[in-house]
Amino acid sequence: MKNQNQILRQQFLAHIGQTSPSPQLISVERAEGVYFYTPEGKRYFDLISGVSVSNVGHANPQVVEAVCRQAKDYMHIMVYGEMVERPQVEYATLIANLLPDPLNSVYFLNSGAEAVEGALKLAKRYTGRTEMISMRRAYHGSTHGAMSMMGFPEGEEWKSAFRPLLPDCKALEFNNFSDLEQITERTALVLCEPVQGEAGVRLPDEGYLQALRKRCTEVGALLIFDEIQMGMGRSGEMFAMQKYGVTPDIVCLAKAFGGGMPLGAFVSSNQIMNTLQHNPVLGHITTFGGHPVCCAAGLAATKYLLDNNIVEQVESKGRLYEQLLEGHPEVVEIRRSGLLLAVELGCSEKLFRMMDMFIESGILSDWFLYCDTAFRISPPLTISEQEIRQSAELIIECLNNL
Ligand SMILES: Cc1ncc(COP(=O)(O)O)c(C=O)c1O
Repeated sequence: MKNQNQILRQQFLAHIGQTSPSPQLISVERAEGVYFYTPEGKRYFDLISGVSVSNVGHANPQVVEAVCRQAKDYMHIMVYGEMVERPQVEYATLIANLLPDPLNSVYFLNSGAEAVEGALKLAKRYTGRTEMISMRRAYHGSTHGAMSMMGFPEGEEWKSAFRPLLPDCKALEFNNFSDLEQITERTALVLCEPVQGEAGVRLPDEGYLQALRKRCTEVGALLIFDEIQMGMGRSGEMFAMQKYGVTPDIVCLAKAFGGGMPLGAFVSSNQIMNTLQHNPVLGHITTFGGHPVCCAAGLAATKYLLDNNIVEQVESKGRLYEQLLEGHPEVVEIRRSGLLLAVELGCSEKLFRMMDMFIESGILSDWFLYCDTAFRISPPLTISEQEIRQSAELIIECLNNL
């Protein structure tokens, strides 16, 4: 006799569109704080946070309360941009206050890729130019437009089967100062993650983002930062741009921005954003973007970060992980921004063995789209010192058994 879980797994394989031949197939019963639990009662340390989504921890009571309250008041009323809905307006106002000037106009969407799509369109519309530049080993989403920005040659593995993609795209090498000359008066936009996530956590070199900003300003190209993974405190500042003192013309947010609900946004100045109002009117349209329940969740999560000084603790928590793991003979290098760590083992076979051991030990981690030799540590930012020490102990046990 099959039990309920086995039946559910079979139905998952039969009826859920599969994206890989080897899904992790762990059943989830409930989640709380830094843990989630299977129906059999096995507990996992969540060291992925749904890929930098669950920054305020699972089932955060303030977020749950805001979601329930808003679901009772009202859910979807009308397409985006017509009605005055309190959760949307309050969240946009808070985000505008947290971001540096002149980033004060928030366009809400449902996901990261959608935020990127909207930002690309806005920059083309504002500049009247067509060339779009991104960085090698970038990830911005899986729609045609976002995928077009995955760069060359590394991005080809992911995008070549889906051509034709957007024309007039090219990619620079992140941190290569002389490549910046390729940004010219033809360039509409440069899209860049201030810290490259899926490249395996690659930090900008001293002065690089400043030089990028300067070049874009010189030639009139718009600088777009993708803070979808690093924003909302992951880097140790509310937004990674604040760490480097560089303000883009547009910033894309998603993931933790929705407090666990699907929400994205691109944020710009009123002056730039207002071009979407005319020639043509309704320059970007969404039905569900800025859903009131998602905005209520994002607002509650951001207030939670602020009220509890969570972001201020991120750097020391990240450093503690680094201190506990560096020096282990299997660890080649640790690359880190705040509480996003890539622990480099230098060898994919070792990495895959680690992944199996992690699952046995009750740890959820993964590798990076462009880097399958390092594992990810990206826990909820609310993780306690004790939880960091306990999870690091489990990781070290796995490393010892490699
Ligand atoms: C930096 C970055 N940009 C964009 C995206 C795409 O976001 P979404 O999956 O919500 O479309 C991701 C997702 O991993 C990301 O890491």
